[in-house]
Amino acid sequence: MAEIKKIIEGLHPLERKVLPVLSSTSRFEDIVSKTGLKHVEVMRALQWLENKGIIKIKKELKEMAVLDRNGEAYAKSGLPEKKVLRALSKENLALDDLAKKSGIKPEEVGISLGVLKKKAAISMDGKLVKLADPGRKLLEKESFEEKLLAKLSKAGAEVSLLKDEEKFAYENLKKRKQIIKTSPLKLVSVELTEAGKKAAKEKIDAKSADSLTSSMLKTGAWKGKKFRRYDVRINVPAINGGKRHFVSQAIEYIRKIWIEMGFKEMNGNIVQTAFWDLDALFVPQDHPARQMQDTFYIKEPSKGKLPSPLWKKVKQVHENGGNTGSKGYGGKWSEEEAKKNMLRTHTTVLSAQTINKLKKEDLPAKFFSVGRIFRNEALDWKHLFELTQVEGIVIDPNANMRNLKGYLKEFFGKMGYPNVRIRPGHFPYTEPSAEVDVWHPEKKEWVELGGSGIFRPELVKPLLGIEVPVLAWGLGMERTISEYFKIKDIRELYKNDLNQIRNMKAWMR
Ligand code: PHE
Repeated sequence: MAEIKKIIEGLHPLERKVLPVLSSTSRFEDIVSKTGLKHVEVMRALQWLENKGIIKIKKELKEMAVLDRNGEAYAKSGLPEKKVLRALSKENLALDDLAKKSGIKPEEVGISLGVLKKKAAISMDGKLVKLADPGRKLLEKESFEEKLLAKLSKAGAEVSLLKDEEKFAYENLKKRKQIIKTSPLKLVSVELTEAGKKAAKEKIDAKSADSLTSSMLKTGAWKGKKFRRYDVRINVPAINGGKRHFVSQAIEYIRKIWIEMGFKEMNGNIVQTAFWDLDALFVPQDHPARQMQDTFYIKEPSKGKLPSPLWKKVKQVHENGGNTGSKGYGGKWSEEEAKKNMLRTHTTVLSAQTINKLKKEDLPAKFFSVGRIFRNEALDWKHLFELTQVEGIVIDPNANMRNLKGYLKEFFGKMGYPNVRIRPGHFPYTEPSAEVDVWHPEKKEWVELGGSGIFRPELVKPLLGIEVPVLAWGLGMERTISEYFKIKDIRELYKNDLNQIRNMKAWMR
């Protein structure tokens, strides 16, 4: 009973109008006329009531009989056979005069005579038509057909509900031209459930305060008012609010981690010269990574400018070590090779450019970036040709490998990987160099997520002018965040499937 009270308190004004009439009314049209509501309003109220388990809506397809063109005319002025009978009651008629004298169309003569003969209402004497006794009786009363026409002319009728004699007349008239047609009708009717029967008996106020307004709050008029109870469990259509792409959410979080640790963000172009992406980082000009199959070079414009006088220092370091204490790679360093435009292959290019802008007084300093990089790789579940790297540098005379591991541990800990390991690796620009692995709690194995090390003097001295330890790392963002989103194939991160984007859980670490 308490349940029913709650249901009633939660009724919408439309439901309040509809529910009381349901104990005596079940057909949709009748509910509409009894409540005086619009069709859509009744429909909506019924659906809500059904959701609440108060009613059951039944939809049936019914065959409706209605008058067709001729039927409408006959309903007004009578059936042609009746007109014939009337004319014959005055005089016998020659077949040829029949139409004119009885006021029917020539094409109605055949059917009229057929109908009348069947009822033995007329007799034929050669070409002369005479009224017979049964015909005289027919003249006095209304036939089943006429009764049906009258009935259908009002509102049509449901075929299955016709009485026997109506059915008989219906079958007869249906055989004739354009008198009756049938059309399908969707019938909606309503049945109260057990709970509904109880609810319909309760007293239902037509009105309940539907919304709390600010003036109600100000004047205190809300006191003593009855408010509509909301059902928070009811089925409602899902609303998909706007939100950031889940990868963008993760990137925002990553940026926050570094900013909280005092790092400044580095930004730069996606198109770079090989000079900045590779030469300034002491990557030898014959390094395999510089080949077309690994790097996207730009066709137009194919070359960029070299920064002067820096490029000369870099050339020296490559050819003979310059003033860095290194022997360099020997051979000839080509300016043309360094001028080539390309899509950056790592965000380490931003680190080189940032260091180049620094002055001694700026130290120590820390920078990070989260940026797109491009590698000419075959696409598969593990590889994209467009990736995001999380880059970082710490330029600090006191920095060492323990600090490097500390930063990485801090970062990965916040990304959900508390165990970090570094092991010896090789990059042309770092010494020592270290691969970065994290312990994957689910796969129960170490997963390689990036590279790191301390930048070589061959790189730092030309760019900064002095030799200072620079901790550096470049980490794969996609592989770091896929696990959280339960994504196995990293292409799924960027498929931009609306359903996936809508249903993906939010980044909350
Ligand atoms: N640039 C390296 C890569 O793309 C990562 C790296 C960055 C390694 C900085 C050492 C130092 O894999």
